[in-house]
Amino acid sequence: MELRVKRAPHIDTEITVPGDKSISHRAAIIAALSNGVCRLDGFLIGDDCMRTVNALRALGIRIDEAEPNAIIVHGKKRVLNPPAAEINCGNSATTMRLMAGLLAGQTFESRLVGDASLSKRPMDRVIAPLQRMGANITAEGPEETPPLRIHGGSLRGIRYQMPVPSAQVKSAILLAGLFAKGKTAIVEETQTRDHTERMLRYFFVRTTRDENGTIAIFGDQVPESRDFRIPGDLSSATYWLTAAAAQPGGHLLVRELGLNTTRTPVLGVLVRMGAQVREAIEDVDQLEPRGIVEITGAMLKGTVIQGKEVAQLIDELPVLAVAGALANGTTIIRQAQELRVKETDRIAAIAHNLRVMGAQVLELSDGLEIHGPAPLRGGRVASFGDHRIAMAFAVAGLFADGETIVEDAECVEISYPGFKDALEQFMTTKRGPGSTPVIGSRSLAPVDQ
Ligand code: S3P
Repeated sequence: MELRVKRAPHIDTEITVPGDKSISHRAAIIAALSNGVCRLDGFLIGDDCMRTVNALRALGIRIDEAEPNAIIVHGKKRVLNPPAAEINCGNSATTMRLMAGLLAGQTFESRLVGDASLSKRPMDRVIAPLQRMGANITAEGPEETPPLRIHGGSLRGIRYQMPVPSAQVKSAILLAGLFAKGKTAIVEETQTRDHTERMLRYFFVRTTRDENGTIAIFGDQVPESRDFRIPGDLSSATYWLTAAAAQPGGHLLVRELGLNTTRTPVLGVLVRMGAQVREAIEDVDQLEPRGIVEITGAMLKGTVIQGKEVAQLIDELPVLAVAGALANGTTIIRQAQELRVKETDRIAAIAHNLRVMGAQVLELSDGLEIHGPAPLRGGRVASFGDHRIAMAFAVAGLFADGETIVEDAECVEISYPGFKDALEQFMTTKRGPGSTPVIGSRSLAPVDQ
């Protein structure tokens, strides 16, 4: 599938986005361990999260699909069955790493495989802590890449200092910790998304976090079954927020959005670049804040993205790089070497596509230096099989002369089913329902660099 993109007319609209990918994975797993039936509304029916659903089904958990975008998980009180075959995690590193943590504490053997992209991604980061907990887990690929073979067994709690900030690794250890003897503690120097901790707490599993950022979980707890409504995915919304931000006078409202503060630093960057952003949290009942974001666009200015904020907006960097190409001045992204081990080498992919579209960009070992504003021109850009690259360059196409064709774009289904229809809305909207500002509450202050 190709995405054919033309320049956006004036943006003045409102939108909702599919459910949060990270939260969907966690909700399915923790519901499966619970002591009863849980309905998960707003579940992301995308390829990645369905890999987790199918992995849980392979372990004997009944999961029904319900309309619209809901799943019903029949928790079996931490009882999982040995899988009849290897478990295919597709493109989803979240599935593979979280399942590795879960399977480490089971008494049977399992094997996790992935597609060509996942088969190149580093697994040493989960293998090392799980082995320290007593798990028998090995990578069959070169340099500790998938497939993973796990012969689970009895685990003991450890104290683990995270060498790389990674919510997937933290979550794998927490899930293993649920099946370990005693206390498992994780020391996170840079806080990463805390959806697993929140989801565990929502299901009445006790976790703690001290003032130094040490997270702890105690083994032997059974999650209490509950229903949950998954908020919209801020990472998906960021494609449209960036499009509106980069169009002077553009205006966009996104409703029903997850606004967890470990995910919102991207809004601070858009403010720094000159957009006007307001957020209003409407509901915190389920421990995951949800609300509205309203954005008004401007001629953006370049910014520097580095340090601790990188881990909290790692998935938004491809589209922020596109914003950088449209902004006045230089945008520098540093200390983002993790981008090289995502679904593709995102630093190389961004640099390649930005150059195809006429932008001036320097590839750094750990990031990018982008000189804007570029008069972007349409052309053929590659997705590199990476959903976030495909979507970021569809947004670039909204600002380019002529037609932009994003090749091999079926990968958008991984995190954003319906992306193509939403893109259509941005190519045709003249005036939408959200044309008057609605949020009067909290305006984000510019963040110091
Ligand atoms: C995710 C964590 C991040 C992120 C990924 C989803 C998660 O990966 O890039 O898209 O759901 O925990 P890392 O843990 O590798 O940083």
